Amino acid sequence: MTEDVLEIEGGTPLIGEIKLRGAKNFVSKAMVASLLGQGPSTLHNVPLIRDVEVVAGLLRAHGVAVELDDAAGTVRMDPGGVELAQSADIAMHAGSSRIPILFCGPLLHRLGEAFIPDLGGCNIGGRPIDFHLEILRRFGAEVTKEPGGIRLQALERLQGMQMELAYPSVGATEQCLLTAVMADGITELRGAAVEPEILDLVSVLQQMGAIISIETDRVIKVEGVEEMHGFHHKALPDRIEAASWAAAALATGGDITVLGARQADLTTYLNYYRKVGGRFDVTDRGIRFWHPGGELKSIAVETGVHPGFMTDWQQPLVVALTQAKGLSIIHETVYEQRFGFTKALNAMGAQIQLYKECLGGQVCRFGRRNYLHSAVVSGPTELHGAAIEVPDLRGGFSHLIAALAAKGRSSVKGIGLIDRGYEHFQDKLQALGAHTWRV
Ligand code: EPZ
Repeated sequence: MTEDVLEIEGGTPLIGEIKLRGAKNFVSKAMVASLLGQGPSTLHNVPLIRDVEVVAGLLRAHGVAVELDDAAGTVRMDPGGVELAQSADIAMHAGSSRIPILFCGPLLHRLGEAFIPDLGGCNIGGRPIDFHLEILRRFGAEVTKEPGGIRLQALERLQGMQMELAYPSVGATEQCLLTAVMADGITELRGAAVEPEILDLVSVLQQMGAIISIETDRVIKVEGVEEMHGFHHKALPDRIEAASWAAAALATGGDITVLGARQADLTTYLNYYRKVGGRFDVTDRGIRFWHPGGELKSIAVETGVHPGFMTDWQQPLVVALTQAKGLSIIHETVYEQRFGFTKALNAMGAQIQLYKECLGGQVCRFGRRNYLHSAVVSGPTELHGAAIEVPDLRGGFSHLIAALAAKGRSSVKGIGLIDRGYEHFQDKLQALGAHTWRV
């Protein structure tokens, strides 16, 4: 276990190159998909992060042979011996991630039953699983709440179904895909999420033998098949990590080349990066992000589902916006409580005010529900070091950026949480010239 506190002497621009690997929010789902194959699957470009270890642990608990080669960034999964896991083994992983809910469909297909522990994940809103349970019921699964989790049973083969999601949820779309591919007949999901990570999951499932078509207007159709086989795939790069380092370059007045970053996954982010005054250069090796000197400009941004501005890009960019001249307005429409991290920024000298109203072009789901889901950042403000505690994964990385941009010393507690989604982030900080010490 790594020490949990990082001391940071801020005020030094981050300069250098770092390497990106596969997207956390795809890799974990592709690992779950391997359960559906009759033969082994191999995934490349796998980052060494805690979420990958959690899914590997859960797969092993279900009888899957998992070989992780950290240096090569490869994971090989052989589901030949899939079996129901011991409750104690599942409990070991309970509370550490949201991925277990996606085991439902594959386990129902393979074993006819499943037990899914209560979910963990970042505390950024209620994060209900009602869409997931509704989907599974519609496929014909029996869902029962038990102490410590939910039990699912499929007394006969699951049946294709039609459904419209009330919101284009990433996880619910994945739930539907992972279940529909081997259900009997045709499934039609309307109002589906179409994030790049989901499209990469579709590629993996297609390699395994699934028949999936992405139609216009968020409609996904799946023709169920009786048998699937293993896959061989290279994960798409992590566009959230790329955007996080890009924000760090801007906030610290630095210059960071993110090797492996892909422009197509970052189009919306790059538009805003340019509007703020950040510069970028796309090369064959990745994307270079830098602060060109002079003043940054304030912007108005509203988070949303793809192809909108990702909610996960919001938190790191807010730190950079504390250095922009004027009032920036951020309307968070995906999670109702994703501004908790701004409290620490204000303690460091930022001026960020939260509002319950929708300060954006549209009224969102949270507009009349009393959530502080809009923010106004006034800048530029000089940040100074402070003792802060990591609230959630992206908020935590944002705190790191703030500490790196701030004058003086900060002490950031709870950095273990950042290992969930940022591979070797402490080594990368060192490589970029940051002054950090573990205590
Ligand atoms: C995924 O979460 C990601 N996590 C999140 O990244 C990401 O922020 C999010 O998608 C949006 O892009 C993983 O892939 C592991 P959702 P997910 O279902 O699938 C509501 C990170 O830091 N909803 O699209 O859980 C929900 O409350 C994380 O890497 C329901 O109401 O997100 C939220 O308001 C944080 N009922 C909205 O939908 C449901 O049953 C979007 O959630 C499911 C979701």
